[in-house]
Amino acid sequence: MSLLEAKNLVFTYGHGTPFVTHAVNDVSFTVERGEIIGLIGHTGSGKSTIVQQLNGLIKPESGEILLDGKNIHTDFKRIKEVRFKIGLVFQYPEYQLFEETVAKDIAYGPKNMGLSEEEVAERVKYAAELVGLTEDFMEKSPFDLSGGEKRRVAIAGIIAMKPEVLVLDEPTAGLDPKGRDMILSRIKEYRNETNAAVIIVSHSMEDMAKTADKLLVMNKGSIEKFDTVANVFADAERLSEIGLDIPHVTKIAIELNKRGFQIPKNLFTVEALRDAILNCRKAGGVNV
Ligand SMILES: Nc1ncnc2c1ncn2[C@@H]1O[C@H](COP(=O)(O)OP(=O)(O)O)[C@@H](O)[C@H]1O
Ligand SMILES: [Mg+2]
Repeated sequence: MSLLEAKNLVFTYGHGTPFVTHAVNDVSFTVERGEIIGLIGHTGSGKSTIVQQLNGLIKPESGEILLDGKNIHTDFKRIKEVRFKIGLVFQYPEYQLFEETVAKDIAYGPKNMGLSEEEVAERVKYAAELVGLTEDFMEKSPFDLSGGEKRRVAIAGIIAMKPEVLVLDEPTAGLDPKGRDMILSRIKEYRNETNAAVIIVSHSMEDMAKTADKLLVMNKGSIEKFDTVANVFADAERLSEIGLDIPHVTKIAIELNKRGFQIPKNLFTVEALRDAILNCRKAGGVNV
């Protein structure tokens, strides 16, 4: 049985109005423990609508979400428990910080879970360390921090609940490359330490090729592809067609392939491209 299963999700905004939007059409996928899934697609393709359904924030119009094989919408008590097990970090979560200190902000979630004071303190320490916030941040006001630091506080607040499924909606939006790599590596570390499943919404193919095990590619409310990163990149040209910005490395591989060099088109790391070029030179003595 999968840890999380989305079955035939359908969601429409503005039912019965002239502004009706079919945001999510018949979307099904499964998520296993320890997997990092990159949920990718252009703006408006339904990514945020999907992740808000996963932890019960909005209810699918039809279809269901199963956690450990059980529908999350069976009753009110279950939904509360589900919110602890499936932790959702919103897009731009730093705007939702509100406590006087960083420590209190991170403690908010675990406190709500009814954990003992010691357990809460331990989890705050664990989550802060994991996202790279040192002790001297703890008594600061979140409002005195930089954008990237605030983002890390918000993520720590969800990690402190130790969710079995960590869902992040565009966690790197607006950050510089260093900040992006930092956040993505910390998220990966959480997966490595806990074997939690992770779903990261992103529109950066470049970031997700580096981070995810599988990609769930959305196009206009429907699933275009759900497969390993390598298999999704097998048709990288199609990804470009549906408005996704494929990695530079992949663009170079496709271009070389077009020009007659024996280079696979589905490469997405610099190392893989280097090896392919070296092999190509060895095989044919062609100077790439
Ligand atoms: N609260 C809302 N009211 C009406 N339409 C919405 C709302 N939120 C999203 N939509 C529409 O639903 C579609 C999917 O949006 P969304 O799930 O936010 O996509 P993404 O996260 O991939 O950018 C878009 O056409 C968007 O305009
Ligand atoms: Mg979105």
